[in-house]
Amino acid sequence: MKKIDVSSLKKGDKYTKPVYLDPDTVFISSNSPISEADLDRLTKFGIKEVFSDGTKIIEESEEKVNKFSDDKLPFLDQNEDALRLKVIYDKIIHNRFEFDSIYSHALDIVQKSYKIIADGKSIEIREFREVAEKICDYVKGNSQISVYLNSYNQNNNYLYHQVVNSTFFAVVIGMNMDYSRPKLIDLALASLVADVGMLLVPNNISEKTGILDENEKKVILKHTLVGYQVLTQRIKLKNSLAVVSLQHHENFDGTGYPQKISGNSIEEFARIYAIADNYSSLISKRPHRQAFLPHEAIKKMIGELVTKFDLKMVRLFLNIQSMYPLGSYVELSDGRIAMVLDVNKDKPIRPSVRIIKESNGQKVKTLQFSNLGTDLQLYITKPIEAKLAI
Ligand SMILES: [Fe+2]
Repeated sequence: MKKIDVSSLKKGDKYTKPVYLDPDTVFISSNSPISEADLDRLTKFGIKEVFSDGTKIIEESEEKVNKFSDDKLPFLDQNEDALRLKVIYDKIIHNRFEFDSIYSHALDIVQKSYKIIADGKSIEIREFREVAEKICDYVKGNSQISVYLNSYNQNNNYLYHQVVNSTFFAVVIGMNMDYSRPKLIDLALASLVADVGMLLVPNNISEKTGILDENEKKVILKHTLVGYQVLTQRIKLKNSLAVVSLQHHENFDGTGYPQKISGNSIEEFARIYAIADNYSSLISKRPHRQAFLPHEAIKKMIGELVTKFDLKMVRLFLNIQSMYPLGSYVELSDGRIAMVLDVNKDKPIRPSVRIIKESNGQKVKTLQFSNLGTDLQLYITKPIEAKLAI
């Protein structure tokens, strides 16, 4: 393993392989950002060097930070709305590192554990429970969580990102259903393991771009049953949680699989996860289609797909996400481009935004916000793709 000088480590740094304090002690796992607390720990114990076989990951984290890196811009606007939005924006910037850290850790555990399970071995459910607790506590303290989730578009390792994203969205729904903390943690845990059966589907089928033949379809359909069997028999997960794996592709109208059950015969956790899973999948790029914009995904779910879901839950999800979900990008009536920062509950089509680009396409030189709820001469003309905004 090669030595890494501790003085070169920065908060947020990630490595492709675990970083060790000594051959037996992991300091941070692979793909997990180093936190302030981690750096403090090194200073406290006088550790000058750590070790890893991996290399520092640069591109991904920097690209993500870029979306929010304009926080260094001068802030000159002193009106009351702008000051309030600046506080929200600062919180989003500040909490992003913690989100990235929890997200990466969850991704790591899901990836590692799914592979172990696919190899026919067993795993400790404790690790999933710890991740579930962290996710729930984070979501509870961060009402702007969707800003990150709606802008978290990953092309690699689709399955694992999909599981982690869906878990976050499921927790957002559960929280808005006033779930207690233990119930929310159960929901998160059940969500994290819901697609474990997918690893038993060969890649050439799960990632196929063309139309699946009958046999390939059967293999995909089986991932629910196989996952459920593994979770209940090998992992000994209680039935009320493993059932999400079995039922997450059942539709409310009875057109899903594997049992074609409908309505409230589908367990509540599975109905929640189905919404989270579908939304998260729609806003992701797939081999056979482009990603839907957040508002297009919402439209699809309350339009052509609506019979597949529990209507009261889909309505709740629409209320949470709003017509212009947090973190999505819009064009304003004066031609400027903005990112949605905060919802105005009584005016869903008039959220608060941060201006990203001027009408001439130039990036703004100062931090600017607008509350469309009160700034009535301005309105949203259309949602736009992130790549046009950043
Ligand atoms: Fe699935």
